[in-house]
Amino acid sequence: MAGRGGRAAATRVDAMSNHISPDCSDARMPLGATGAQRHPSASATSTPLDLFARSLVMRYGRDAAAPPALGGVDLRITAGETVAVMGPSGSGKTTLLHVLAGIAAPTSGQVLWKGLDVARMSDRDRTSLRRRDFGFVFQQGMLLPELPAVENVALPLMIDGARRGEAMKRARALFAPLGLSGLESRRPGELSGGQAQRVAIARALVARPGVVFADEPTGALDQTTSAEVMGHLTALPRHSGASLVLVTHDENVAAWCSRTISLRDGLLTSDVRRAPVTASTATGATGATGATGPAATTFSGRS
Ligand SMILES: Nc1ncnc2c1ncn2[C@@H]1O[C@H](COP(=O)(O)OP(=O)(O)OP(=O)(O)O)[C@@H](O)[C@H]1O
Ligand SMILES: [Mg+2]
Repeated sequence: MAGRGGRAAATRVDAMSNHISPDCSDARMPLGATGAQRHPSASATSTPLDLFARSLVMRYGRDAAAPPALGGVDLRITAGETVAVMGPSGSGKTTLLHVLAGIAAPTSGQVLWKGLDVARMSDRDRTSLRRRDFGFVFQQGMLLPELPAVENVALPLMIDGARRGEAMKRARALFAPLGLSGLESRRPGELSGGQAQRVAIARALVARPGVVFADEPTGALDQTTSAEVMGHLTALPRHSGASLVLVTHDENVAAWCSRTISLRDGLLTSDVRRAPVTASTATGATGATGATGPAATTFSGRS
């Protein structure tokens, strides 16, 4: 599948296309083989790589009188879209991300991906989905401290049964486009915060996911490093055709996304689309610091 940046942009990133396949449909196993339900209406209204949430309700605990963490969220994320999720603390952002990514099951409602209801999949299918179709970047990276960076990146592939040599090759190939060349053998404790977060991004991208989820991935970074990480986080999925769903409290970070949705008390309160900041437009963009490093030089903006 072509990235939204089109053929010109795809050509510009040709140097990295060895590393990041524009076809994000490969390496997918046919989900549903063990019992997930195909939703009858999904294919009529969406492309297979759109992600749908329908009437999502999430209640933690058994107290039906307590306000739900999600009170009935409807959402469609189009393939290739970059979506910032904003809202006050406790408004349900992380809960929404976890439910969309199949990490948590909603109390009711549906999450549809490739026409399948993620919430109704067997555990086995959902685990496969998380490994192969979805990538996740956490606020603190969550790298394994005892493993070299490249092994941290290769790990999801090896857990999924890839041969070590092949997994390491694919992991290594992500280091240059993310500005990490030469850091393959460093352990997480020997990396800066921005470098560690880029390793976490590589790990989320290594299986060539259809959707990358990121929960406050720049929360622990200064503004300049944050802009650099956002340059990578938005450019790489865009050029591989993947979607990005990112939770942030920071308007400067949200500006890198093509769409911002806001939550309050578990409900969607606004949904705004706009031209995103890119590495090539970041310098001088309102509120966004200039992206420095490889993202600024490797990628052009969306054409
Ligand atoms: N595991 C849990 N058990 C019980 N309640 C929870 C759990 N996780 C979250 N909640 C509650 O659900 C609501 C939404 O929490 P969530 O973590 O989704 O908010 P958030 O918008 O991500 O907040 P923050 O910006 O602080 O990260 C909150 O009221 C929170 O207390
Ligand atoms: Mg949160």
